[in-house]
Amino acid sequence: TKTPVTVAVTGAAGNIGYALMFRLASGAMLGPDQPIYINAIELPFAMEALKGVIMELRDCAFPLVKGILATDDAEQGFENADYALLVGSKPRSKGQERSDLLKENGGIFETIGRILNKVAKKTCKTTVVGNPANTNCLITAHNAPDIPSENFSSMMRLDHDRGLAQAALKLGHDPQDITEFAVWGNHSATMFPDLTYARLFGETYRHTFGNKEFDAWNEKEFIPTVQQRGAAIIEARGSSSAASAANAAIAQTRDWVHGNDGRWLTMGIKSGGEYGIPEGLWSGFPVEVDGEGNYAIVKDLPISSFQEEQIGKSVKELLSERDAVAELLH
Ligand code: NAI
Repeated sequence: TKTPVTVAVTGAAGNIGYALMFRLASGAMLGPDQPIYINAIELPFAMEALKGVIMELRDCAFPLVKGILATDDAEQGFENADYALLVGSKPRSKGQERSDLLKENGGIFETIGRILNKVAKKTCKTTVVGNPANTNCLITAHNAPDIPSENFSSMMRLDHDRGLAQAALKLGHDPQDITEFAVWGNHSATMFPDLTYARLFGETYRHTFGNKEFDAWNEKEFIPTVQQRGAAIIEARGSSSAASAANAAIAQTRDWVHGNDGRWLTMGIKSGGEYGIPEGLWSGFPVEVDGEGNYAIVKDLPISSFQEEQIGKSVKELLSERDAVAELLH
């Protein structure tokens, strides 16, 4: 049997946390043969709610769970962590400026970065879910200089899976039938879900769709639907997507660790300047994973002027977010 690994989760008593913890504990993220310790980290005011979540977690008697820690002390929570799922962050309060929210959340992730650097394993893999996820991830990685920056990813998988689902539904196929799809840029309404290279059973998606009709549908329906999906869910459900976000956090981390049969993924990762995305920004890219914990950006893709324009819009937003938190990036 494998040695247990430690998974730290912040925001464990929140909406996403409530959906995430049980999937994690069931083995959905690290596999059915990987025992885990779960370290649930919350703010002091949420410790009572967290107690309830952990009571339910125990009541599932999951065989893989070898220990559960509930704490509002992040140093204790990230101690020896092999994986960190950073879900906890502050939602925008009424009338608050976006730049103030950025700074406030940035402060949380600055602290977490420092703590990870100090107490987590140097091999720790981190997935940032809390918004603005890409910029929070940049801040975390910046403040954890002893952990390789490739070990920090921001969650773009929900956007990826939303795109796959819409593209598949349209043609009456399964999401898994579509390959070579990815989402560029920020996890926000400026993201660019990109069907340019997508294939359906080897044939291009565009061709299968019908060359003539594709562009209009892509630009007027597909892209806006995926970009606005989060808002549409809030509108319909009365609160933001939680179960699908938890699923995406599990899926992104799982595929990063275990691979996914050569399919492209979207992960928010540090740009090395690829495709004109400024070096050092965390952006969505098409990536491939090797099944041994490594990923690489898909290389040498031709980029059209339409793509360039779409990617550019989202990159502009990422740059302005980075500017807003410049003081946390010394
Ligand atoms: P929520 O408000 O229900 O839960 C957040 C929890 O985090 C709360 O229980 C809070 O006490 C806790 N928390 C806040 N700061 C913390 C800290 N410093 N340490 C530990 N815990 C802390 O929010 P929900 O719905 O669970 O969403 C969480 C975040 O995920 C939000 O920022 C949301 O915008 C983001 N999100 C990201 C998505 C993505 O695709 N990247 C998709 C959906 C949501």
